[in-house]
Amino acid sequence: MLHKSWILLLPVVLAAEISELQEQVAHVSKTRKGTAFQSPFAGQSVTNVTGLVTANSSSGFWLSSTTPGDSFSDDAIYVYSTSKAVLAQVAPGDIVTLNGKLSEYRSSVDYLFLTEIASPTNITKLSSGNTITPVIVGAGGLHPPTQQFSSLDVGGVLAVPGNASQVTNANPTRDPTKYGLDFWESLSGKLVKITSPTAISYPNSYKDFWVRGDWPVTGLNQRGGLTITMGDDGLPDLNPETVVIGAPLDGTKNPDVWMGSTVTDITGIVTYTFGFYTVLPLTAPTVIAHNETLQGPTTLTVPADDANCTLTFGDYNVENMTWNSTHLPLAASQVGDYLKTPDLVFLQEIQDDTGPTNDGVVSSNRTLQTFVDAIASHSNVNYSFAYIPPVDGQDGGEPGGNIRPAFLYRPERLKLVNPNYGGSLDKTEAVNNNGALGLTFNPGRIDPTNTAWNATRKPLVALFESVASGEQIVAINVHMSSKGGSSSIHGNPRPPVNGVVDKRIAQVKLLADFVGSILTLNANASIIASGDFNEYGQTDAVYGSLRTHLLDIDEAAGIPKEERYTYVYDMNSQQLDHAFISPKLQHGAEVEHLHVNNWVKYSARTSDHDPSVSRVKICTPQSNPPEPTCSTRQIGNWCAARLPTFNNLSTCAARAINYNVPRIRLIAANAFLARVVPPSLESRVRIYLADAAMIQDMVTCSVKIGASLNREGDTCLKMSEESGPFEISSLSVFQVRYLGEAIGKLISSDGRP
Ligand SMILES: *[C@@H]1O[C@H](CO)[C@@H](O)[C@H](O)[C@H]1NC(C)=O
Ligand SMILES: *[C@@H]1O[C@H](CO)[C@@H](O)[C@H](O)[C@H]1NC(C)=O
Ligand SMILES: *[C@@H]1O[C@H](CO)[C@@H](O)[C@H](O)[C@H]1NC(C)=O
Ligand SMILES: *[C@@H]1O[C@H](CO)[C@@H](O)[C@H](O)[C@H]1NC(C)=O
Ligand SMILES: *[C@@H]1O[C@H](CO)[C@@H](O)[C@H](O)[C@H]1NC(C)=O
Ligand SMILES: *[C@@H]1O[C@H](CO)[C@@H](O)[C@H](O)[C@H]1NC(C)=O
Ligand SMILES: *[C@@H]1O[C@H](CO)[C@@H](O)[C@H](O)[C@H]1NC(C)=O
Ligand SMILES: *[C@@H]1O[C@H](CO)[C@@H](O)[C@H](O)[C@H]1NC(C)=O
Ligand SMILES: *[C@@H]1O[C@H](CO)[C@@H](O)[C@H](O)[C@H]1NC(C)=O
Ligand SMILES: *[C@@H]1O[C@H](CO)[C@@H](O)[C@H](O)[C@H]1NC(C)=O
Ligand SMILES: *[C@@H]1O[C@H](CO)[C@@H](O)[C@H](O)[C@H]1NC(C)=O
Ligand SMILES: *[C@@H]1O[C@H](CO)[C@@H](O)[C@H](O)[C@H]1NC(C)=O
Repeated sequence: MLHKSWILLLPVVLAAEISELQEQVAHVSKTRKGTAFQSPFAGQSVTNVTGLVTANSSSGFWLSSTTPGDSFSDDAIYVYSTSKAVLAQVAPGDIVTLNGKLSEYRSSVDYLFLTEIASPTNITKLSSGNTITPVIVGAGGLHPPTQQFSSLDVGGVLAVPGNASQVTNANPTRDPTKYGLDFWESLSGKLVKITSPTAISYPNSYKDFWVRGDWPVTGLNQRGGLTITMGDDGLPDLNPETVVIGAPLDGTKNPDVWMGSTVTDITGIVTYTFGFYTVLPLTAPTVIAHNETLQGPTTLTVPADDANCTLTFGDYNVENMTWNSTHLPLAASQVGDYLKTPDLVFLQEIQDDTGPTNDGVVSSNRTLQTFVDAIASHSNVNYSFAYIPPVDGQDGGEPGGNIRPAFLYRPERLKLVNPNYGGSLDKTEAVNNNGALGLTFNPGRIDPTNTAWNATRKPLVALFESVASGEQIVAINVHMSSKGGSSSIHGNPRPPVNGVVDKRIAQVKLLADFVGSILTLNANASIIASGDFNEYGQTDAVYGSLRTHLLDIDEAAGIPKEERYTYVYDMNSQQLDHAFISPKLQHGAEVEHLHVNNWVKYSARTSDHDPSVSRVKICTPQSNPPEPTCSTRQIGNWCAARLPTFNNLSTCAARAINYNVPRIRLIAANAFLARVVPPSLESRVRIYLADAAMIQDMVTCSVKIGASLNREGDTCLKMSEESGPFEISSLSVFQVRYLGEAIGKLISSDGRP
């Protein structure tokens, strides 16, 4: 089957008898974007293909055109052969001609094709010792796109459902200046030199690791890794400007690296293996420097002057921990030395008392008591613990381990309110106990028989009371289904398949409904839903329901978007672990992610997740703050709402919920881009934007889900400020983003910027 648009190597000279082909080849070599992902000539014989051998391996060699076109012309190709006799005929620097069969190869339907010449014959050496010049990717050379992966990722790379289309079916025309896959595909088969590479992940078991070079990047965190953020286009940015370094062609081994390790320049071949565009170095790079700086302990401890009204809490996925796990003492020392023994700790992946031994044991008492005792030896803090054992074998995770969420709490600081432990299958519900909040089971589990929790962990809920102040806190400890089954971000399904996302959507919805039931009883309730959500904060489809009630503490605390990570996977520093808090707790909330596991060499890790510590104020009600009073800066009859620094995503979401007001007001001196998140709000929501330079010239926009609005765009409906009221529901969740230089300012109600 021939595709309309096509690609592939080209200035390779093809057989005279395939003259139509030659015409097309000539055409393609002249156009930068006029090519796609697969060759229309797959399956056909090619003869007298001429090229310079740029590199060789035990399974073939790579040819580049001897008359290269522009940087993205398809003038290089892999020649596949494992025949020793064939391989002995070529060496790097040779110019050869050969015949063969043009083939598209992939080992999985979810991968992209690699175009190659198979079964090479009649290899004739025309000359040898020719100069090989790699294409520079980096300073002074080509720069990969930083935002999108593929034109097929409609709605962004995290949109659901995934696999709405496939690269191999659509075979889209490539734009290597805009899309990451198109960029790397355009270099497929070429010898490139990546200048000044920095490792952004650990090597996998084959010692492959991800790098960025000295080209412009987005999402750069202080450690040198790249974090998943929202891009300037309002869509999630998962860093297409990165590439995997695969096995060196000369058989040397890649070094041990971790986030921020710098290595020597890498010259290698761009290819596609196991679902990813990969650079195969000619030889292994060596490490220039590792970043050996360690994370310091948390600063978020209980302040002596406000101890009664402060709550500190930690969150830590301790990875398959049982009483005799070798990493238990280290994790305990971290809780003592780095987390500084928070009042409450949300743990995930606590195993039963016989760990992976599959013997029907479900109690975690020995596991937790061993952990608690180990913490005591580091801190003199003697935690109590609370959990509900699962039904044997029903909650997923390591077989036999029966992982579950569990709480540690300091009994001198917190106590369980009317303890009444639920059974594995008991559903706890919020009740009004003579004006006070209660739980039918405390601790209990959220709707444990709901099919959304089939074969996975059920959230653990506990109602605590501050021993000193009597303030109540609802703590919900979650560990949502993992992303197993996800397809490669460089893979064929577009957008990529986000494994098990439907279950996470349903699970978070059950959590949101439970939270809603508490807030219905008491809008001022202090609620913390924390744990391993197994999902990036940028996946709107999962969090929309929860964000109508709670706010991610990273947003409340204004953590820079690049520093929001607790996990590193493939190329991305990412946040799987979150704490969502109710309005009452949002004012003054703080959080720190402690990179005790992602900043250290692999062998020094305790868990695959980093722990976090948060600090909130539990006494002052915040849920119904007064309407903001007008500041000295007014816009017509509108006063400026009180808003924190407005240069990061979702800041306004917080306030729209917080203030429970039907308006959101923004001032800045530049364009805004706004998106409405929850699907249910389509057509009900309008976004109001004001520009300081045009204060009387208000703009409102009726927007659709996921739509991006530019202040300068003509899709907005212009209105005067008297045209309100603006229909921004108190349940609306907004992500409003400031575009351009940070010259805008949000004005607070008390006049402070
Ligand atoms: C084969 O390619 C070489 C080098 O490009 C060229 O000189 C020669 O004429 C070609 N032969 C045929 C039969 O096309
Ligand atoms: C590449 O070719 C050279 C010269 O023939 C040979 O010495 C070397 O072993 C080859 N490399 C590999 C990985 O086969
Ligand atoms: C093999 O290559 C030689 C040299 O390029 C050429 O003269 C000859 O025609 C080729 N034979 C075939 C069958 O392509
Ligand atoms: C994506 O869809 C294609 C075509 O229906 C199918 O062959 C493939 O298995 C799907 N991949 C995933 C990961 O769902
Ligand atoms: C090493 O890591 C620390 C902490 O993230 C950072 O502040 C510092 O800039 C890094 N050093 C280098 C050379 O990147
Ligand atoms: C933990 O104890 C079990 C027996 O209860 C044993 O099988 C297992 O090997 C021990 N694990 C470690 C890491 O010592
Ligand atoms: C575990 O500890 C709890 C609380 O101390 C206790 O009620 C329960 O009986 C213990 N379970 C086992 C199996 O010892
Ligand atoms: C901690 O408390 C538990 C339960 O109250 C008690 O059994 C244990 O001995 C205490 N441990 C230490 C080190 O004080
Ligand atoms: C923990 O269990 C999970 C699920 O079986 C497994 O994927 C992971 O490798 C385990 N981690 C460790 C450190 O054993
Ligand atoms: C629950 O999960 C198990 C294991 O994945 C599966 O075999 C079973 O069909 C699922 N049941 C329901 C009701 O979804
Ligand atoms: C803190 O609480 C304790 C116990 O309720 C009380 O004695 C003390 O006065 C409180 N401290 C402050 C500063 O309110
Ligand atoms: C919530 O707190 C506000 C401010 O303190 C108070 O006016 C309101 O009555 C409280 N609402 C409830 C349901 O307790």
